[in-house]
Amino acid sequence: MTLTSEPSVIRRPGRIQTELLAAGAWSARHGIARVAMGRARRRGDLQAIVFSDPAAREDPYPLYRRIRERGPVVRGEFMACTASHAIADGALRSDAFGVAADASALPPLARWLLSRPGRTVGPVTPPSLLAVNAPDHTRYRRLVAKVFTARAMEALRGRVASLADELLDRAARRGEIDLVSDYATLLPVTVIAEILGVPADMRAQFVAWGAQAAPVLDIGLSYPEFRRVDRAIRQLNGWMSGHFERLRRDPGDDLLSRLVAQDLDENELLAIAGLLLAAGFETTVNLIGNGVSLQLAHPAELEVLRADGGWANAVDEILRYESPVQNTARRALRDTSVEGVPVRAGTFLAILLGGANRDPEVFDDPERFDVRRHNAREHLAFSSGVHYCLGASLARIEGEEALRRLFERYPDLAAAGRPRRRPTRTLRGFDRFPVRLGRP
Ligand code: HEM
Repeated sequence: MTLTSEPSVIRRPGRIQTELLAAGAWSARHGIARVAMGRARRRGDLQAIVFSDPAAREDPYPLYRRIRERGPVVRGEFMACTASHAIADGALRSDAFGVAADASALPPLARWLLSRPGRTVGPVTPPSLLAVNAPDHTRYRRLVAKVFTARAMEALRGRVASLADELLDRAARRGEIDLVSDYATLLPVTVIAEILGVPADMRAQFVAWGAQAAPVLDIGLSYPEFRRVDRAIRQLNGWMSGHFERLRRDPGDDLLSRLVAQDLDENELLAIAGLLLAAGFETTVNLIGNGVSLQLAHPAELEVLRADGGWANAVDEILRYESPVQNTARRALRDTSVEGVPVRAGTFLAILLGGANRDPEVFDDPERFDVRRHNAREHLAFSSGVHYCLGASLARIEGEEALRRLFERYPDLAAAGRPRRRPTRTLRGFDRFPVRLGRP
């Protein structure tokens, strides 16, 4: 399609139509799953417990262990799941599997809803990179991949470090800060805003939309939760559409200006830009928050880093031990087998990345947090295969610079209250973490 095609956000549906579309989209993606999961959980189904039990959100690791001990692929009432590193990696790399949210995988009602004008274009529905298979996926990914190469990202390291210092200078005046809102979010949101070329004064608004939209990755949301998510994504899309218009009239030398000049329709543009923006900070914030929490809980590990450096490996160990994205899913496109385990066509496989990252087949003594672990980098926190995280190099650099600068400048950093876990399941991290910086 061409740029002249009518943007969907301009063909705004009426209020009643919006309500109906939202109710239908909620039933198809969350409502039915919510009821089925509730029933299955009461019958002790392990997958249902992972995805809906409150205690499993707090500490999912014992459950992952039970699932792994039960077998490489555990079939539950409504899907199969794996906490095995070999199966997770094998399925993610296999072309016999596609993304679970690909339109052809959806029930007819959901497919119909997706074809309606006025439906919400978000990160987990086509044409998002996370929700399409080849050849669309290959085409979209090619458009942005060259901007995020390891080399291009390494060139940004100096900027990331000086930004970390600026934020810490500002924090120093207060002594006590909320690590999440004053540091761990501001660093990646500023960097991704600069890469995309969106105005810095929109950062607070992006952060607010990001926080409201983050549960979109979970399944089984309640209707009010779903509506909050939907509203935030619509507001972001509305702003983005206006921004694309400005860039068409007056392009700059940034990624979004280049994207609007491509042969993409409005929904494709919204999906790519929205995903890059949100994935650019909603994940890295958890890496930094989880990293601080782990270092404070393991002072001997922090001493190792102080004495010998090695922050790059420590960041991979943080990603392994407390993965910011705990799970993803795939669907078998044909009868196949992974590591010798047969999988029937149509099977949905929940891939518990956080569980695979503690698989004793790959990681010795996996429940131990060890910043010198020799193979920490073999984790699957950034997924694997064709959907491997596009921002992995950037996230590693941000995590490394943010944590190193913080602990080097404030060796006495301490918690100043209990950190609060964010309410999401797929995204694992904190949404509030008061800390006292201590003497510089
Ligand atoms: C610690 C930080 C991060 C983690 C843990 C993370 C994790 C992930 C994971 C697990 C996936 C693949 C999901 C799947 O296979 O279904 C993914 C994909 C993606 N990530 Fe990240 N991510 C992080 C940071 C970033 C950053 C900074 C960006 C910014 C550019 C980014 C952009 C993307 C994009 C665009 C995709 C979709 C790739 C595709 O489908 O081809 N991520 N990320």
